Amino acid sequence: MRFSSLCGIAAAGLSCSVCAVGVSGAAQGFAKGVTGGGSATVVYPTTTAELVSYLGDSSARVIVLTKTFDFTGTEGTVSATGCAPWGTASGCQTAINANDWCTNYQPDAPKVSVQYDSAGLLGITVKSNKSLIGSGTAGVIKGKGLRIVSGASNIIIQNIHITGLNPQYVWGGDAITLNGADMVWIDHVKTSLIGRQHYVFGYDASNRVTISNSEIDGSTSWSATCDGHHYWGLLFDGSNDLVTLQQNYIHHTSGRSPKVGGNTLLHMVNNYFYASSDHALEVDAGAMILAEGNVFQNIPSPVISPISGQLFGSPDTNTNAECSTYLGRACQLNAFGSSGSLGGTDTAFFVNFQGKNIAGATTAVDAKAVSTSAGIGKV
Ligand SMILES: *[C@@H]1O[C@H](CO)[C@@H](O)[C@H](O)[C@H]1NC(C)=O
Repeated sequence: MRFSSLCGIAAAGLSCSVCAVGVSGAAQGFAKGVTGGGSATVVYPTTTAELVSYLGDSSARVIVLTKTFDFTGTEGTVSATGCAPWGTASGCQTAINANDWCTNYQPDAPKVSVQYDSAGLLGITVKSNKSLIGSGTAGVIKGKGLRIVSGASNIIIQNIHITGLNPQYVWGGDAITLNGADMVWIDHVKTSLIGRQHYVFGYDASNRVTISNSEIDGSTSWSATCDGHHYWGLLFDGSNDLVTLQQNYIHHTSGRSPKVGGNTLLHMVNNYFYASSDHALEVDAGAMILAEGNVFQNIPSPVISPISGQLFGSPDTNTNAECSTYLGRACQLNAFGSSGSLGGTDTAFFVNFQGKNIAGATTAVDAKAVSTSAGIGKV
């Protein structure tokens, strides 16, 4: 009986109040109020095809994962010629010639042979009104990511691990893609060993999103910086995106953590950035970033130059008082250990917080506990 593996007490016919199946807690910040599948009957997919079907149909659903769903091999493998823009040394990532990327953009890079798993390239479509929840530490999706696009809204993804998307290869797959979505809460999700972006928000407006308590684990043997650190962290390029990035543990990356552009208002609060080999933030034109209460530990460059968008780095208590007008409270200082500085004193964009749900903030010292509270198996 499937239920028994999730809830032994219920199988024994006793009360099940201690093992309620459902979403834990509630989103703070921009996606506050998201309900996902709500009180829909819980379903437990048993095969990859069933998981794809539940996520992609038009019913509100609460989908609980009690095991690993391994997509590798489900769509075949491809052997082809790719390129090595960062060299052929062991430890360097190479690239698939996706959309002629190697041909058009890396004409001088050495050609290499690549063998990749087709399932990794395009994520599973997630439609509106879904909760996707892992049970304990069991909910793993291997070899394929998630795609929340084209008007999908009201979606909760909690307590799962997405891993193993052709990590050797750039263009091998993105873990979580948003493009033209709204009201999405990603919580306690771990991503590791990804080919390209851990998170990518495309050019279409993705409106209200909260990513919280999640672990972006950039440790890899195939790095675009050839140093064990994954370059392709989080890319927010939406044309009207409101993103709350709260209490996440972002570690062993070397860039794009996050890279922000389009017309994205990003509230980056109480995250723990640890052990980057280069930079965390990249601030492109159009970005509006308020960073407060974060801890940067062993981050050579919390932000890379040049800064083309707007950045408020909560620089000192006097300046941080300016948050009060639109956030209803002062901003919290960030903290830095063995790291460069963040800077950032732009405040003109604060008006965009008006009327929005805004996450609370604790002091940066508390953010350090995030390394043990973020990721799968912690809810
Ligand atoms: C999602 O649920 C809401 C509320 O029940 C409903 O109005 C809406 O049509 C649903 N969306 C889709 C795409 O089914």
